[in-house]
Amino acid sequence: DASDIEKGTYPHYMLKEIDEQPIVMRKIIREYQDENNELKLDKSIRSAMQKADRIYIIAAGTSYHAGLVGKDFIEKLAKIPTEVHVASEFSYNMPLLSEKPLFVFISQSGETADSRAVLVKIKELGHPALTMTNVPGSTLSREADYTLHLHAGPEIAVASTKAYTAQIAVLAILATDTAKAKGLELEFELMKELAIVANAMEVLTDQKEEMERLAREYLATTRNAFFIGRSGDYNVSLEAALKLKEISYIQAEGFAGGELKHGTIALIEDGTPVIALSTHENVNYSIRGNVQEVVARGANALIISMKGLEEDTDDFVLPSVHDLLTPLTSVIPMQLLAYYAALHRDCDVDKPRNLAKSVTVE
Ligand code: G6P
Repeated sequence: DASDIEKGTYPHYMLKEIDEQPIVMRKIIREYQDENNELKLDKSIRSAMQKADRIYIIAAGTSYHAGLVGKDFIEKLAKIPTEVHVASEFSYNMPLLSEKPLFVFISQSGETADSRAVLVKIKELGHPALTMTNVPGSTLSREADYTLHLHAGPEIAVASTKAYTAQIAVLAILATDTAKAKGLELEFELMKELAIVANAMEVLTDQKEEMERLAREYLATTRNAFFIGRSGDYNVSLEAALKLKEISYIQAEGFAGGELKHGTIALIEDGTPVIALSTHENVNYSIRGNVQEVVARGANALIISMKGLEEDTDDFVLPSVHDLLTPLTSVIPMQLLAYYAALHRDCDVDKPRNLAKSVTVE
């Protein structure tokens, strides 16, 4: 059938979609740039961002994790305070809103009922909304004032991969555009940095054999797994754990490195896999300290670090990209680890049990 043709020679949609990430990155660069290589964004979105005194990002699942990364961009580049909320929680426990809020809905499908419930509520209150989605004609896109398209192409596998990196890239574009409109100084050129990211992504998607080996070594038979990181790496560790849970059914959690000693370290036993991310110079020393702490208690640790920060010959080393953009690359080995762990455990990678691609009930 048609879906077989789309999958081409790939055994699973998920693997195909992981591989498409460099292509999507380049597509986003083209779509959001004009002939003069300037950022190209709807003027009404630019002005809505400038008017806002606070951004409220609303999302679920993987899109929520992309939102956590987006908060960093909007606060660090555009200097607007930003909150990120799980849609289903926001509906029941709405925080005190600022005077001029702008709501940003992040949704691959544009159909998530939990997010829509928030959209309906905030429209009743008269607040503006922007939807960032892969499906421009979707409900969340139609009912919001503004839409930003992710340009990731259809995502079929239930576990989201290329939509996550597309969301992060478009959030970076949105934050950078706002910063420029506000006349703020930026010390880097985003589109050039995203092109470097696309190349780095290609290097990483070419390392499937290595990821397969690591998945076998660390995750083939384990009952649980921990991902740790600090700062931007913590955000990615949450997404890494979600990917692994969704498709391999291994109980997995992402933790802030410094928080381990406040409870989680009690779970470390002989052979417990702990996967640590280290892509920021300012946390490299402390995350390695956390690794030593868990190794001393028997953990089977793997460090994924960025070039220039590797200290151990056993590190899996990521190509170097701009410090703010490392979630775009560090997530790829995490996606591949989850994929191969699921394969080793004979799980249905594209259609995991109990999960739906788009959840249209609250
Ligand atoms: C479902 C999917 C997840 C997804 C979440 C949010 O739970 O299984 O992969 O992240 O919904 O979906 P959305 O389409 O709103 O991004």
